[in-house]
Amino acid sequence: MQRVLRKAAAALALGAVVAYVNPISAADTSAPPVPPAQAEGAAPAPLSMDELKKPMKPLERVAASPKGTLKNPYTDNPEAIAEGQKLYFGKSCNGCHGGGGGGGMCPPLTNTVWVYGDTDDTLFRLISLGSDELKKAGYARKGTEGVVGPMPPFGELIDTDQDVWKIIAWIRTKFAGGPERRHW
Ligand code: HEC
Repeated sequence: MQRVLRKAAAALALGAVVAYVNPISAADTSAPPVPPAQAEGAAPAPLSMDELKKPMKPLERVAASPKGTLKNPYTDNPEAIAEGQKLYFGKSCNGCHGGGGGGGMCPPLTNTVWVYGDTDDTLFRLISLGSDELKKAGYARKGTEGVVGPMPPFGELIDTDQDVWKIIAWIRTKFAGGPERRHW
């Protein structure tokens, strides 16, 4: 009887130790992970130029790249700009935005008002996803042009991300806001 009781007491004590230890180890493992550097404000590092020049479908590129990491590898590249102009007309962007990007039925691409922001990352996603999907991805309207309507998605209509970049490189040459505002 004594032995049984002692065993029971030992088991209880062990249980107490286990019970005491467990919450601590549980607390340890449930400690919040170290927040990534870009959690608050700081821009995430852009993808490398080599990575950005590997052709991908525009929508695959959007899906594979965290917000803020897309950067145009063809800005100021004369050949890419010439190809971008052809693509802009080939994909009928001019039908809505005008042949010089100055607007028409739709917002100008030349002024300092950028509906969702002016970065390469935002324009790439807007052109690929269209306004409705861009907003679903968490991008908010920041500016309003005279004409308000949805931009259609071109991610399925433009062959590769390289072509989207070339179009954006051409659009950048039409910017009339002055060099000090060119910070994309
Ligand atoms: C059917 C008309 C239409 C076509 C075609 C079209 N867009 Fe748009 N685009 C719009 C509208 C409308 C907006 C404004 C979106 C909004 O307010 O949500 C817009 C916005 C934009 C913007 C942002 C402008 C700003 O001031 O922030 C860019 C850049 C753009 N389009 C590029 C293109 C490119 C490149 C193409 C061709 C691949 C294209 N668009 C084809 C209607 C069109």
